[in-house]
Amino acid sequence: MRKTKVICFANNKGGSGKSTTCSNVGAALAEAGKHVLLIDGDMQLNLSLSVLEEDDVLRYAQSEQNLYRAINKQDDLTGYIVKTNTENINIIPSSTLMSSIECDLFTKMQRELILRKCLKKVRESGVYDYILIDAPPTLGGWVINILCASDHLVIPVESSPWGLFGLANMFDFVDTTKDIAPQLTMLGVLITKIDERKNYYKQTMESLAELPDIHVFKNCIHVDSNVEWAQDNCRTVVSYKKSSRSAREYVALAKEIDRLCQ
Ligand SMILES: Nc1ncnc2c1ncn2[C@@H]1O[C@H](COP(=O)(O)OP(=O)(O)O)[C@@H](O)[C@H]1O
Ligand SMILES: [Mg+2]
Repeated sequence: MRKTKVICFANNKGGSGKSTTCSNVGAALAEAGKHVLLIDGDMQLNLSLSVLEEDDVLRYAQSEQNLYRAINKQDDLTGYIVKTNTENINIIPSSTLMSSIECDLFTKMQRELILRKCLKKVRESGVYDYILIDAPPTLGGWVINILCASDHLVIPVESSPWGLFGLANMFDFVDTTKDIAPQLTMLGVLITKIDERKNYYKQTMESLAELPDIHVFKNCIHVDSNVEWAQDNCRTVVSYKKSSRSAREYVALAKEIDRLCQ
């Protein structure tokens, strides 16, 4: 029986590396022998596309077998889990219908806690070491659901001036959920897409280091074209090209996360 930890990857800024980080941390943990469940909480289906063939992603998105249907029916998520192309990783795929989730939640009782309730049995089954949830680039009722269902939060931040812009809003948003998500701890901020040809990453690191009480992960992720080739092949870079810089960085990050979660 495993003690399951639930981690979400969230940031209202799109393109900050949430889906790439969620899938690759999952792949690195799975490679280390952990049992991992991924939950795709975004209508863009990017997490699903990292571990499933495109045809399957589209088939699940149009079927009843996706997170959107489960949340609408307020169903136990056990029946929505599917196997992936990677050992030790299962996923609950998403649907493009997720675009209307905010409206659907509005009429439901205790609407902030629906994902938490739907996930309860899976979490308590002890089947998984880690459940990793990929959030959409928004700050609304659905992301509140994701925070309420999680033990830990990781905020990926792109190393760019606009990557930092809006981060304060994200912190404020997380603060406002304290009463309904008292279990949630901020695991840290992860710097992604560092380009050493530009000097800007130093500025990003300095700005983040000035934030009080915020852990910045020791391991960062550099720009690496292997990430895109992996995604083009519906794979994580950790499983696609283990020797690449980003794959090694994700493996190191997964170890850091695993340590912090103990
Ligand atoms: N380390 C990296 N090197 C190169 N490209 C990356 C890297 N990380 C992410 N990307 C690319 O950046 C884009 C945004 O990443 P993604 O994970 O989808 O961000 P988010 O989920 O926050 O919107 C994607 O096109 C992805 O391929
Ligand atoms: Mg994404």
